Amino acid sequence: MQVTLLTGASSGIGKALAHQLAAKKHNLVLVARNEQALKQLCEEITAKNGITAHYIVADLSKPDAANFVYVESKKKNLFVNLLINNAGIGSSGEFVHNNLQSELDMLELNNVSLVALCRLFLPNMVANKSGGIINVGSLASFFPSPYMAAYAASKAFVRSFTEALTEECKPYHVQVMLFSPGFTTTNFMNTPANNNSWGKTLTENAYTQTAEQVAIEMIQAWEKKKSFHVSGRINALTVKLISLIPNATIARTFANTKRKKMNL
Ligand SMILES: NC(=O)c1ccc[n+]([C@@H]2O[C@H](COP(=O)([O-])OP(=O)(O)OC[C@H]3O[C@@H](n4cnc5c(N)ncnc54)[C@H](OP(=O)(O)O)[C@@H]3O)[C@@H](O)[C@H]2O)c1
Repeated sequence: MQVTLLTGASSGIGKALAHQLAAKKHNLVLVARNEQALKQLCEEITAKNGITAHYIVADLSKPDAANFVYVESKKKNLFVNLLINNAGIGSSGEFVHNNLQSELDMLELNNVSLVALCRLFLPNMVANKSGGIINVGSLASFFPSPYMAAYAASKAFVRSFTEALTEECKPYHVQVMLFSPGFTTTNFMNTPANNNSWGKTLTENAYTQTAEQVAIEMIQAWEKKKSFHVSGRINALTVKLISLIPNATIARTFANTKRKKMNL
C-alpha cells in the first residue's frame, strides 16, 4: 500500500497535517514517541475519513531510529510515496550553559534522522520516478539566532540540504520541498529546552500562526508543486528583507535586543 509517512505527528503542526492529509484521503504512517497520542489520532482519522492509518513509535533523537522506522514500514508492506520530515525540537538559552546532551539530541533529531529518512526512502521513489519529500525548516534557518544558536544552525542545515536535494531529484521526477514555518502556536516553546526566559524574549509580540493555518499552507504549496515555501505572508516578507542585511548585523541586533529584554 502507498502511504504518506509523517514524523512528529503526535502534536502541533504534524497533528494538524495528519487531519488534513487524511481528509484528502492519504493513507498515513505517523511517527513520534507518544504512543497514546499516535494511537488515538490513528483511530480518529481512520473513523472520520475511511483511510488506513498506522503508527510507529520511535525516538528519532536516537541513532538508528530512522532505520527502525524504515524496517517497520517495510514489515507492514507500506511503500512510502510521500515523506514529511516534520519532527523537530528547539533550544533557547546561552549556548555556554545549555545542556550538551540536549543540544546533541536536537541535532540528531533535526538533522541526522532527517537525512537518514531521506536516504532510506528516496531510492524507491527514484526507481518509480514518482513521490516526494517535504522537509520542515524554520524562519530561523535564514539568519543566525543568538540564544537559539544550535537550533537555528540545525534548520540552516535542513534548508541547505533540502535545496540541494530538490535539484538532485528533478531528473527522477521526485518532488522535494523546503517548508519553513515561523512562530506557530504548538508545544514547540513548551519543551524543557525552550521553556525559559530566553525563549520568551523571542516569542513576545511575535507574528504567530495556528498549526492548522500552517498545515493548510503546506498542503497548498505542495499541490502547487512548489519547492520552497515560507509560511505566512509576513514571514515570507521578513525573509526577503532580511536577505538584504549582512548576517553579522542581524546576529548583533538580535543579541542586543534579547539581552535588553533580559535586563543584561
Ligand atoms: N512552532 C513553531 O513556532 C515553529 C517554528 C518554526 C519551525 N517549527 C518546526 O515545526 C516542526 C513541528 O514542530 P511543532 O511546532 O509542531 O512542535 P510540537 O508541537 O512540539 O511538535 C513536535 C513533534 O515532534 C515530535 N518529536 C519531538 N521529539 C521527538 C523525538 N525525539 N523523536 C520523534 N519525534 C519527536 C513530537 O512528538 P513526541 O513528543 O510524541 O515524540 C511532536 O509530534 C519542527 O520541526 C519545528 O522545528 C516550529
